[in-house]
Amino acid sequence: MDASERLVAVAREARERAVAPYSGFSVGAAIETADGLIVTGCNIENASYGLTLCAERVAIFKALSDGHRAFVRIAVVADTDAPTTPCGACRQVLWEFGPDMEVVIGNLTVMTARHRLADLLPHPFSGRLLNR
Ligand code: THU
Repeated sequence: MDASERLVAVAREARERAVAPYSGFSVGAAIETADGLIVTGCNIENASYGLTLCAERVAIFKALSDGHRAFVRIAVVADTDAPTTPCGACRQVLWEFGPDMEVVIGNLTVMTARHRLADLLPHPFSGRLLNR
């Protein structure tokens, strides 16, 4: 098992903790920091639907709040045959902390896709534009 497959396995476990009573669509994520630590996330829904947070953002926000700032890889797991790729909002948030990170996607049994984040978000909004 390589590092990507191991991360998918951790995301699969995190998916079990999803709080998804409204959609019934459980997602798990696991993000690997530049120094090799793994932080998990799951989607968290709310009766006020728009307050829902995706698994990917929960994982990176947990890691950021623990002081981590650089990431090399994120795994995302959902129960779908086709790859569950991160939504646009998550791509933008992830990109700011690791444009070169690998995005590994899996389902309950296999890895279904792997991408470089910058390929999933070719024209990101960059904080550099704020320094006019
Ligand atoms: N969701 C994620 O957590 N990550 C994704 O990549 C796609 C969507 C969640 C949000 C919501 O709780 C549910 O899946 C259905 O959209």
